[in-house]
Amino acid sequence: MHATDRPYDVLVVGGGIIGLVTAWRSAQRGLRTAVADPAPGGGAAQVAAGMLAAVTELHYGEETLLGLNLASARRYPDFTAELEEASGQDTGFRACGTLAVALDADDRAHLRELHALQQRCGLDAQWLSGRECRRLEPMLAPGVRGGLRVDGDHQTDPRRLAAALLTACRRAGVAFHPSRADRVEMSGDTVTGAELAGGTRLAAGQTVLAAGSHSGRIAGLPPAVLPPVRPVKGQVLRLRVPAAYAPFLSRTVRAVVRGGHVYLVPRENGELVVGATTEELGWDTTVTAGGVYELLRDAHELVPGITELPLAETSAGLRPGSPDNAPLLGPTALPGLHLATGHHRNGVLLTPVTGDVMAEVLTSGSLPEQARPFSPQRFPTSPSSDQEQSA
Ligand code: GLY
Repeated sequence: MHATDRPYDVLVVGGGIIGLVTAWRSAQRGLRTAVADPAPGGGAAQVAAGMLAAVTELHYGEETLLGLNLASARRYPDFTAELEEASGQDTGFRACGTLAVALDADDRAHLRELHALQQRCGLDAQWLSGRECRRLEPMLAPGVRGGLRVDGDHQTDPRRLAAALLTACRRAGVAFHPSRADRVEMSGDTVTGAELAGGTRLAAGQTVLAAGSHSGRIAGLPPAVLPPVRPVKGQVLRLRVPAAYAPFLSRTVRAVVRGGHVYLVPRENGELVVGATTEELGWDTTVTAGGVYELLRDAHELVPGITELPLAETSAGLRPGSPDNAPLLGPTALPGLHLATGHHRNGVLLTPVTGDVMAEVLTSGSLPEQARPFSPQRFPTSPSSDQEQSA
């Protein structure tokens, strides 16, 4: 049964922040757009801390991704203003900057390496002594050995971002189908929409798979076209800073402790988000005693005063990991099927640029230059690549 006689121009499978921004931007361009998701506005954004950490999360070998991350970071202020205007809701964007610190000689060496890489990439990051770090953030542990001040790495509140995108989509005329899309529908080699749980079939000229870590699990696609995304678990804590303790931290503070990332993201409303574990455990989203212990232990080494704060919430989510840690954006080898998934550690950061890139390719048929390195067809899994290999 078809829910509508007239096919949608665009059907977005998945209503997390990536699906919603794709739908919002598509609808703004005049495309008749629908989203299929049992709980739109949910997903990994409900757990994420919301760091916009293009510079402090730079890794060797990811210079191409850096270009996309910076392009999205630059868009954040205007994107926020436009979204807040369109939705009438605050998104919690805070241009507060980040301080990455070192607790011992190994951490310091690691941070010096990161600084050298940042300088080679022309990024703005300033080396500070331990004393200078503590002058900026007096709650830091006395043992902090040095740090990097990065004034361009900001934050937003992913829960508010998701809520605002949902409202903006509704106001822009996006249709919501509150069911899981179980199966991609095909006619010959062309994707023609999706079948929802319960049997409703939605027809669309173009279907966008934006289901985060679940994007590789949808039925109906040839295995070679399924996106190579996997779940990467992150556990996160939410503490509250009582008014009497404010300002507890004035910017995001982070470190690599015993090889794991720990970060403390202070919101203007008094929430302090502490994240995050990185666990390859399949679909498990259990909050574990070990995960909470690890986060509190490492965060306490950085900022001893956190043990005084009320612990408001613990949660775990799944990042959509990809083989090269970069997103998959745009057309697949199958006509009618696009991907917007695999954003791994950068989903919140990449939300503005993803919306713009996807709306452009859905409207014009052409993937913008800056997104071409992130085509899903870069992985040797598409049918055309298989054919090339067997030829
Ligand atoms: N970008 C932070 C995280 O994925 O934990």
